[in-house]
Amino acid sequence: MTTQLFGKEDIQQAGEILRKGGLVAIPTETVYGLAANALDPQAVKKIFAAKGRPADNPLIAHIHDFAQLAGLVKQVPEAAKQLAKAFWPGPLTMILEKADIVPLETTGGQETVAVRFPAHPLAQAVIQAAGTPLAAPSANSSGKPSPTSFSHVVEDLSGKIDAILDGGDCPVGLESTVISLTGKTPRVLRPGGITVEALRQVLGQVDVDPAVEKGLALGAKASSPGMKYRHYAPGCPLEILDASPEEFSGYVNQKAKEMPGIAALCFRETIPHLQVPFFCYGGRYDSQEQAKLLFSALHQIDRLGAARVYAQQPARAGMGLAVYNRLIRAAGFQKVCLPGPTVVGLVGPSGAGKSTVAAELAKLGCHVVDCDQLTRRSDVYDSGCIAQLCQAFGDSVAPNGILNRRELAARAFSSPEGKQLLEKITFPPILRRIRQELERKTGVVLLDAPTLFEAGLDSICRRILAVSAPEPERLARILKRDSLSQAQVLQRFRAQYPEEFYTCRADWIITNAPGQNITAQVKTVMAELQAGGRV
Ligand code: TXA
Ligand code: MG
Repeated sequence: MTTQLFGKEDIQQAGEILRKGGLVAIPTETVYGLAANALDPQAVKKIFAAKGRPADNPLIAHIHDFAQLAGLVKQVPEAAKQLAKAFWPGPLTMILEKADIVPLETTGGQETVAVRFPAHPLAQAVIQAAGTPLAAPSANSSGKPSPTSFSHVVEDLSGKIDAILDGGDCPVGLESTVISLTGKTPRVLRPGGITVEALRQVLGQVDVDPAVEKGLALGAKASSPGMKYRHYAPGCPLEILDASPEEFSGYVNQKAKEMPGIAALCFRETIPHLQVPFFCYGGRYDSQEQAKLLFSALHQIDRLGAARVYAQQPARAGMGLAVYNRLIRAAGFQKVCLPGPTVVGLVGPSGAGKSTVAAELAKLGCHVVDCDQLTRRSDVYDSGCIAQLCQAFGDSVAPNGILNRRELAARAFSSPEGKQLLEKITFPPILRRIRQELERKTGVVLLDAPTLFEAGLDSICRRILAVSAPEPERLARILKRDSLSQAQVLQRFRAQYPEEFYTCRADWIITNAPGQNITAQVKTVMAELQAGGRV
């Protein structure tokens, strides 16, 4: 079969092929989909054949107008209306009881149907031109990474389908979130473009199927048939390393000395530390970017090949959960946890309550390295360092060679440049001291370091834990604790990063506002840490 390559001027022709029971690959905001008439069993069967997809793995019906939903399902529950209002059109798929009109071929034999209203204008235009809901799984051979660019589809499906519509690169890069509304509590079966946190804001309680992070237990029944199958796999073995960036590059560089063909699937920040070929999938703290680039990176691995690829583990907050879900499947659930302590960086703005959280974690058996206290120890700074400080801030910061920390703080924190200079001089000796502390530890170690990111200490952390509290609360706490004026505290706040800087880099956020139960939040974090991740 010759596959026609379409541009946006060919929408009507695409619609005609679909009306006649043909297959057209179309762009959506998540990934490219392989579309057929969702209500035509013969057309739908062609999708399964072209993809090599098991017949019991159901398809998503795509609509271009909320009103179409009612025709595909037995009834539209209140929760579906709320979700549609908040997230449609967009990367969210809802599972509901199916109407008789939807053939069992489309639903893989189930009495439920998955429905999505995509946001991509070309996807909407094609559905409208076809005049029928379109069944569309990701447009890839079953088991392979999903396609996020026109060329991915052309390489994989040319000759097997009627046409491919070029819509450029997919902006989200991972498939839609699949949520089932058929049980008592809404349940996420596949994390995706809409985060679990965002769903909870609309619906309150939302469960996450355990198979999202762990895969199916042997013999367990899948809530979603798609969970059963090997997915997203590149053509070579892939393993996830649960490691800090520094541990990651150390491990991979060492492996490369032992065997040829080692490559890394890594974050951008890690690239300068690698001595092996690498495939980058975004910044460590940018899960949107990781989502957008992951499949592309997996396709590249397929094209260029490697004997074995080690992947840097993403954080599982927000969109990160979807990234982790795809990566752990691409790895066939192969994960290496490096020996040594799990170092967790504790961050947050002044007055958020980091010490309170550290104390609670210590009660649960976590070692705490208090970096602020370490910086107060006179044996951290040698005479060379003290001389540099005097030169930068004046002799009064160390009369007779003995550091006067209050004077130093007053001088250094009066300007952003002063703060920077202070850090440049003091970070290297502090870092040496912290490494010494860590050498002797095992288990979970909390690194309580107010300037974790500025000092680059996040590169030795496997996880980041942020503490947050409203600014007026933080101000009141500091005024009570330190002998500082309100103006001085506010000046200090302005010299620091805003709270979002910390929370958007965190694996967990502990909210330390009045009325919040810190102990319970800390217990959850510790339990997840001991279980090796976030459950
Ligand atoms: O973003 C997306 O959702 C993309 C684009 C093209 O829209 N489509 C997509 O389709 O990812 P597909 O077929 O690759 O994934 C659909 C997932 C599968 O894991 C399937 O098992 C699940 O949704 N699913 C579909 N219908 C279901 C149902 N009735 N019950 C449970 N799971 C269902
Ligand atoms: Mg798929």
